[in-house]
Amino acid sequence: MVIARLVGLMDRAVCDPMLLTSPILDRPGPQILHTNKAFEHMTGYVAEDIRGDTPRLFQGPKTDKQILCDLKDSCRVGREFAAVATNYDRTGEEYVVQWVIRPVRYSGSIIAFLSVQRNLDEVPVMSRVFSVGQVFDIVEKELGAGLG
Ligand SMILES: Cc1cc2nc3c(=O)[nH]c(=O)nc-3n(C[C@H](O)[C@H](O)[C@H](O)COP(=O)(O)O)c2cc1C
Repeated sequence: MVIARLVGLMDRAVCDPMLLTSPILDRPGPQILHTNKAFEHMTGYVAEDIRGDTPRLFQGPKTDKQILCDLKDSCRVGREFAAVATNYDRTGEEYVVQWVIRPVRYSGSIIAFLSVQRNLDEVPVMSRVFSVGQVFDIVEKELGAGLG
């Protein structure tokens, strides 16, 4: 099952923050299906506590609404989306985050969305070796299937 293998890869093989959501973009979606340890570290939220919640929980006064609109439009048509925005961690502290989001397809249908994220205020040195897009490419190669 693609989702189970993706979750395994998120946990074992990727040191960048990753977030997997359901494919439904309108409220109450997209719902968080899984986040890895690096994501927990970046946001202060424990995976089990935010499963089923929406990534809107990271938004706040400085989160650019136009970027969120563009994100939704891209996801709706199954296109990759990349942006930099302001988000907020569990304590309410803001951070500048870079996202790349791609659809996960199975038999031609979008079954989830996957996001690789980086807190640009504190990108670990080793992470700079690979761009966020390259991390995606590696995950796709490991999975043996295209995601987008
Ligand atoms: C895979 C995925 C990851 C997302 N991650 C974030 C995130 O980390 N921070 C954020 O502010 N919004 C994130 N979003 C965007 C919101 O979930 C939502 O799609 C956005 O607010 C636009 O929808 P709305 O206009 O209905 O609120 C993500 C969306 C998807 C599909």
